[in-house]
Amino acid sequence: TKDNLCDFILFGGHGDLAFRKLMPALYHLGQNGYISSQSRIITVSRRDISQVEHENLVKEKLKEFLVDDDFDEDFFQKFQKQLFFVKVDFSDINDYEALKKSLSLYEDRDRINYLSTSPDFFGTICQALHEWDLINENSRVVLEKPLGKDLESSRVINNKVLEFFDEDQIYRIDHYLGKDTVQNIMALRFSNRIFMPLWDSSSIDHVQITVAESVGVEGRGGYYNDYGALRDMIQNHLMQLLCLVAMEPPCSLEANSVRDEKVKVLRSIRKMEAKDISTKTVRAQYTKGSSNGKAVDGYLEDLKLDSSNTETFAAIRVDIDNFRWSGVPFYIRSGKRLQSRNSEIVIQFKDMPHSIFLNENSNIISNKLVITLQPKESIELKLMNKTPGLGASMKLQPVELELNLPHNVQRKPDAYERLILDVIRANPTLFMRLDEVEAAWKWTDKIIEGWSENLTSMKTYTSGSSGPSAAIQLIAQDGRSWNDE
Ligand code: BG6
Repeated sequence: TKDNLCDFILFGGHGDLAFRKLMPALYHLGQNGYISSQSRIITVSRRDISQVEHENLVKEKLKEFLVDDDFDEDFFQKFQKQLFFVKVDFSDINDYEALKKSLSLYEDRDRINYLSTSPDFFGTICQALHEWDLINENSRVVLEKPLGKDLESSRVINNKVLEFFDEDQIYRIDHYLGKDTVQNIMALRFSNRIFMPLWDSSSIDHVQITVAESVGVEGRGGYYNDYGALRDMIQNHLMQLLCLVAMEPPCSLEANSVRDEKVKVLRSIRKMEAKDISTKTVRAQYTKGSSNGKAVDGYLEDLKLDSSNTETFAAIRVDIDNFRWSGVPFYIRSGKRLQSRNSEIVIQFKDMPHSIFLNENSNIISNKLVITLQPKESIELKLMNKTPGLGASMKLQPVELELNLPHNVQRKPDAYERLILDVIRANPTLFMRLDEVEAAWKWTDKIIEGWSENLTSMKTYTSGSSGPSAAIQLIAQDGRSWNDE
């Protein structure tokens, strides 16, 4: 609506994600005038806490989690007036009276129901909202991952929510899509003519996508041990990055145009046959080592387990069977407790068809485009250049052409600011449509199945290393190497 006026209802509003990410995002949006000061942020929780205690708690957590000392006492005074607390046990369908009373003050307002809870409660919450008549035509529901553990369980969750909300009211979050650097992939590809004729199998040899983290499981062991890197990162974040690199230009930026193109990529990914699992996938778990100079425990010690079949690292060769990408493998990998935090996409171009530089010092290194998403944003094109000097024959050297960002760039908004604002504006472009989620699960399921049959064995890697040697082998067997080797 005009001025972005809404009731923002935060289920699980006293949880870690809410304090770490959602409240700071709402705070910044308010501060920058993106949410009407009349909007209410209604935290729903069963905690026994008063309105004043709730406000104080939010304040304390904002101070803790706002980066760069962004807490501003004057603005908080205003923001505080938008904070409301409603004591409801959202797992009990009969306990929604207080929420009903609060929402009835503004019957016609846009209502954003943000479910920052375990997916086990999604069905109950949506059903309760329906039974208490709390869903209006301007209601939306935001679902946090994990959306299931496989296709079947994701269908159960989605179908339940779909009983009460239409697909266009459902906003499934993949926070990678809210990152500026990730959205920049589309800008790079679709607003720069020079890449247009190069972006396919005639020029590109292969693509690498890496999302490396230096942190371990950070107190989320209970959740993580049930999911692992494949479900936690690959099925969603890395698949979305792959789609953005591989998709055809959408006919507009309208939500369904973009999502239609992404789903076409997902459907073109070659299904993993049992025989491929051992040669095209790697799974591994970290053991003790060091992280940022400090000695750290291995995964099993971190979780106080004797054994676990959960991977903290996965690397996979993905083949896309379509006109643009036939014969161009995408190597993707993600893991925890690696050497450093680094997310990058590498577009490796093919070799020159012929070299006229015959001097032995003049090996031509093939061009590559390296897009670094985090921690810093950069785009580098690796080129060959003449080494300066008067030698008898011409010598070449590899050099980098680097993106030069203007210095006046503003504060980079967090991914959640972009996504929450889009939900408030009712723009679902950066959210996952049901068919995308299902197509990604269909492919992932085959790997889950193969791994459960132990078609590829679990490897280990030392904390603080660059991952298991099997991941190096995965790409080396095709005569290629990772960008960091
Ligand atoms: C989350 C995963 O979706 O993404 C976490 O559940 C992971 O395990 C996180 O650490 C990484 O996000 P970012 O934005 O820090 O790269």
